[in-house]
This record gives sequence, structure tokens and C-alpha cells, in this order.
Amino acid sequence: MSDATMKPLQVGLIGFGTVGKGVFDVLRRNEEEITRRAGRPIRITWIATRTLDRARDGTRGVDGVNLTNDSAVVVRHPDIDIVCELIGGVEPARSMVLDAISRGKHVVTANKALLAQHGNEIFAAASDKGVMVAFEAAVAGGVPIIKALREGLTANRIEWIAGIINGTSNFILSEMRETGASFADALKEAQARGYAEADPTFDVEGIDAAHKLSIMSAIAFGVPMQYEKAYAEGISKLTREDLRYAEELGYRIKLLAITRRAKNGIELRVHPTLIPTKRLIANVEGAMNAVLVKGDAVGATLYYGAGAGAEPTASAIIADLVDVTRMHTADPNHRVPHLAFQPDQLTDVPFLPMGEVETSYYLRMRVDDKPGVLADITRILADRDISIDAMIQKEPSEGEFQTDIILLTHRSIEKRVVDAIAHIEALPTVRDKVVRIRLEQLN
Ligand code: HSE
Repeated sequence: MSDATMKPLQVGLIGFGTVGKGVFDVLRRNEEEITRRAGRPIRITWIATRTLDRARDGTRGVDGVNLTNDSAVVVRHPDIDIVCELIGGVEPARSMVLDAISRGKHVVTANKALLAQHGNEIFAAASDKGVMVAFEAAVAGGVPIIKALREGLTANRIEWIAGIINGTSNFILSEMRETGASFADALKEAQARGYAEADPTFDVEGIDAAHKLSIMSAIAFGVPMQYEKAYAEGISKLTREDLRYAEELGYRIKLLAITRRAKNGIELRVHPTLIPTKRLIANVEGAMNAVLVKGDAVGATLYYGAGAGAEPTASAIIADLVDVTRMHTADPNHRVPHLAFQPDQLTDVPFLPMGEVETSYYLRMRVDDKPGVLADITRILADRDISIDAMIQKEPSEGEFQTDIILLTHRSIEKRVVDAIAHIEALPTVRDKVVRIRLEQLN
């Protein structure tokens, strides 16, 4: 029987920035309902923060909570049941988490970089100690995608996942398309709104999305986390021209994170991708996140919501605190495994190198406006078994003798397309590098 008057579970927060404050506020505001759900009260009793003066400022509302600037005090405190790590980055977060686990404490973390790179080590340590490491907030912020993949879809053989899981990049692409803003201005605005990582190259170069994708891939396919196998290409080289041409062809460009069970292995890739505008996920704009999951039984399911921000992230963290509270006294063997599959049942399916990935392509080339140019290009593609799906050729501007040709291809193996591009670029009539953006129909 649950008893809301039972001794509270005690939480220590490590980090008290935007997200930490969000957790504190939501937990306090919804305390009564959360307690009724969890079966016992959940209390933040310690906070470790580098900015003690700010935390002590009366406006932060943390009266009655113990404050320290030494995280070890919290991690090692005998009364703390759950350590909530909110500092981000690999070190010192990794050492703190391992220290907490070694002391038999559960861990709740939003740290995708840490889990993507050291998740296997951390989960193994947690299993040895019989404690839980919960990480709903690490992927897509407030969207409960970990819960959905690990539990809601557990009947399915997952076929693929395609997600918009970096709000900063999505915000930038929306701004560039809707307002004509430059990449640099849109990034500044995303930073001002607090979406971006400490190092924004993590956002715009696909690294943050690759961290999150590695976590989802492991859960979906029952493989160890292997971030180092992920391919990451960001949005910093996209031009407004290509966003416009894509629209003309009925597509929208998104930074898509894709993991797919292919014949010879698992694809794990993040890159700008054309998606048909008529797909729901193509219309996810601004800093919002969305994840499309294809299961063999359920078909396609779509999860949408805020991927960053204080209270959306707090929503996911508190869900983890409640889960841990409910399962705290359960036999560790009866808990949901960290990566959905029992730890001794993970398999070692290889991840495919990018050259072996199969997808479609948008190719834009600047060419001399002369007879035979198009024939040369299509021959190069045909020789490599690459079939053309659609094409537009622009009229040269007044007084110009060069023009843009844009081709969309059917699905092909990437290494063939790379080879075709090298041969196209070697044609004397082709100016500049060929712009290559991958394309997914998502049907
Ligand atoms: N920098 C991340 C984003 C925050 O832009 O989505 C949430 O992980």
C-alpha cells in the first residue's frame, strides 16, 4: 500500500541553473499530485551549485534547502536517495555519477553527452549496485520518448526512428526559411532564448543530435551505446537558396537524426535532410522536437513537444524521480532495464559506415548553359545505377551563361553517389562543388 505520509525520498540536485530551478519549481507547485502518484513525498533537500550567492538570493525560493558549492557533499550525503545530475558535459559529471552509484544512490540525469559516451560503463556500474539511472530528459526534453521506446512500444520490432531532436538547429532552419534571417543571426537568437548548448557547435554540427540518437538507437535495437559510430553532419553550410529550391520541389530541409535496421547493420546518422512538406514531421517548426518511430506492429507513431527549456525538461526529470520512487523498493530484477533489453541480451549488430547507407539525394550543380551538359550528368548517374526522380533547371539570369540544375534521385547506396559526384565535378562544364543533401520520404 502506498502512503503519502511515508518518509520522503530525498533528492540532491547537482547544478541549479535553468533546469534545476525548473525541477525545484514544478516539484513544489505540483507537490500534492506528484506525491499521490509516487506514493510518497519527493523532496529536494540538498542543492550543490557553483553560484551559491545567486541560489541564496531570496527570489530563488530555496529556503529550508541545504546549499553547498561542493557537489561531493551531496553525492556522499547519507540521507540522499537520488542524485539528480544537471551540470552537463562529461567530466566531472561522469565521476560524480559513478561516485553516487558506488554509494548505492539512484541517479537521474539529463546528460546526453555523458550517456552517449559512457552510458555502457554507467549502466553496468548501476546494475552491479542494484540502483537505477534514469534519463528521460536526455532525449527530446519534455517529450517522453524514452518511456515510449522502452515500454510503450515493447511489443514491436522497431524498424527505424527519425527525429528532429535539436531545437536550436530546427529554430535556425525555421528562422532562415520564414524570415530570411542569416544563419549567424538565427543562431544568436536561439542562444538568447536559451536553447543552445554551452558550445553551440554541438547544436549546429549535429553532435548533440547524435548523442541523443545513439541513446535511442541502443534502446530501439538492443545494442550497446556506440556514439563513436554515429555520422554527424550539421546545418552550418546550408544556404537559403537550397531551402528555397527544396520548397519548390515540395520538400522542407530539417536536421534529421535517423537510425534504421538495414540488411547488413544499423544506420546511425544525423544530417540535413529533405522531407516531403506534406509529412507531419516536416511541419515541426521553431525549437520544437519530434520523433517518428516505425514499429512493425504499431506502424508509424509520432511524438512531439518542447525539446528544451526549464519546465519541459523538469517535466521529464520529475517523471524519472517518480519512477525511481515507485521502484525504489522493488527487486532490481523486476525493474525496466536501462536499455529496454535485459543487459545480458544486448547484441552486437554492426553499425554501417556512411558509404553503405541507402537513401535518396538532392543534388544541385552550377553548370554552363550548353547543349549536352545534362546528358553528361545523367549518363554518369545511369552508369552507377542511380535513378532520377525529379529535376528542375533554372533559366539563366539575364546576361549569364550559367545555370542551376537540381536533381532528386531515387534511393541509392551513398558510395555510388559520392563517386558520381566526383565524376560530375570533373566535367569541364560543371562549376563549383555539387551540393548534396540527403532526402528521406519517411513513408
Ligand atoms: N541544445 C539542445 C537543443 C537542448 O537545442 O535541442 C536540449 O537538449
